[in-house]
Amino acid sequence: MVRIMPSIIVVGVQWGDEGKGKMVDILAERSDLIVRSQGGNNAGHTIMVGKEEYRFHLVPSGILYPHTQCYIGGGTVIDPKVLLEEIKGLEAKGVKVRGRLSISAYAHIIFPYHLMFDKLSEELKGSMAIGTTRRGIGPCYSDRTNRIGIRMCEIIDHELLAKRLKNVLALKNQELTKLYQQMPLDFEPIFAEYRQYGNELKDYVSDVEITVSRALQEKKTVLFEGAHGTFLDINFGTYPFVTSSNTIASGVSAGAGVGPGRIGHVLGVVKAFTTRVGSGPLPTSLSVQEQEIFLDNVTAREIGSTTGRKRRMGWFDASLVRFAVHLNGIDSLAVTKLDVLDHLEKIKICTSYRLRGKILETPPPVVEDLEAVEPIYEVMPGWRSSTKEVKSYEDLPKNAQRYLDRIAALVGAPVSIVSIGPERDRTLFLQQFFAKL
Ligand code: GDP
Ligand code: IMO
Ligand code: MG
Repeated sequence: MVRIMPSIIVVGVQWGDEGKGKMVDILAERSDLIVRSQGGNNAGHTIMVGKEEYRFHLVPSGILYPHTQCYIGGGTVIDPKVLLEEIKGLEAKGVKVRGRLSISAYAHIIFPYHLMFDKLSEELKGSMAIGTTRRGIGPCYSDRTNRIGIRMCEIIDHELLAKRLKNVLALKNQELTKLYQQMPLDFEPIFAEYRQYGNELKDYVSDVEITVSRALQEKKTVLFEGAHGTFLDINFGTYPFVTSSNTIASGVSAGAGVGPGRIGHVLGVVKAFTTRVGSGPLPTSLSVQEQEIFLDNVTAREIGSTTGRKRRMGWFDASLVRFAVHLNGIDSLAVTKLDVLDHLEKIKICTSYRLRGKILETPPPVVEDLEAVEPIYEVMPGWRSSTKEVKSYEDLPKNAQRYLDRIAALVGAPVSIVSIGPERDRTLFLQQFFAKL
């Protein structure tokens, strides 16, 4: 089936790290604009180009193709130190960023006190700790909601920065000293540091929302790069073990300031199994023995790209992905890491859950219930052969095709892309996306 669509949202449908970075990079070859519009440097998107590995935290993953223009939207939270390091790192590798990256004036800024509060509140929470990336994401979004955040348009103006920071620090120091028994923070060093960041970032700031909207009107190809995953969504994820932004497709478009009617296709990126990093339930968790069999395969590489923590692993969970298909309005799925299953004799799929004698087709909203569900599995035969050199979907082993068909039928969305390795050429297309592809 050939469909032409000028704008695509790429969104993760599990708990993040599904391979969104690789998908954005692949589709960027035929895209004009790439937009990152929610979350911050809690994201880690990995791209392999030949033997070179790139890790993106804030800069859109489409920057590696020299023809693309990249945008960081108003729904994001930006740690300027991290962003500047990322830009410098890319330029050092020969990737031109200046002139190709624009940042929204509306994006909120992460300050040192956000990092401190992230750490302090995690420590106070004890067993209820979320296992955050400790990048200050939650505290920064809290300030945005509480209307005491400081934005990109304000740190690039010294007077405004001084005015805002003085006001906010007065509040933050109350919290630091009275609630957490910490020393208060001085205005001067933070002001000096952030004034310098403002100077360095000034030239990158532009009216991103208008530019992206005009590009859509002109039928340019626009790719929206979602971060994190559906079940880390602040509203519909496994609350409270979630991040602080709306990670679902509508959150991506809201963060970019783009109306939902302008979106041509929602591509859900999903692993052929499940992983999770940080705290919170993982109903299809592998047994110790299953984990050993899985990790026998070094290609799994299930280590967090941002924090270096080990990701927990589980079987494919159709109840979870079925709900994600609804929440995101997913048009098609990109199934990644199919190669990790190559050596397995039997593969389990969770088709639904049982909770207190009832069958559930989608996850329950209360986290304790999700902890208590019993996954109902069906077992499929593996294919026990390498998919690494496969060049088209038709050439995949029949059992691999059956596995993919079964996933699609269970979750209610067709598969459009299959990824069988981290590299660009290990990608099989079942559908064309952009006219030029
Ligand atoms: P993201 O956050 O969704 O962009 O995903 P990450 O980059 O954090 O994690 C995905 C990991 O899987 C990275 O190390 C990728 O290089 C790797 N990867 C992506 N697609 C595939 C695939 O099809 N097979 C294998 N073996 N690895 C993949
Ligand atoms: P990408 O874009 C995986 C998880 C953290 C933690 C929870 C809250 O690479 O898929 P936060 O620091 O956001 O307050 O942490 O969310 N988390 C991710 N897990 N991939 C991500 O991003 C994540 N972003 C946040 O581990 O459990
Ligand atoms: Mg990641």
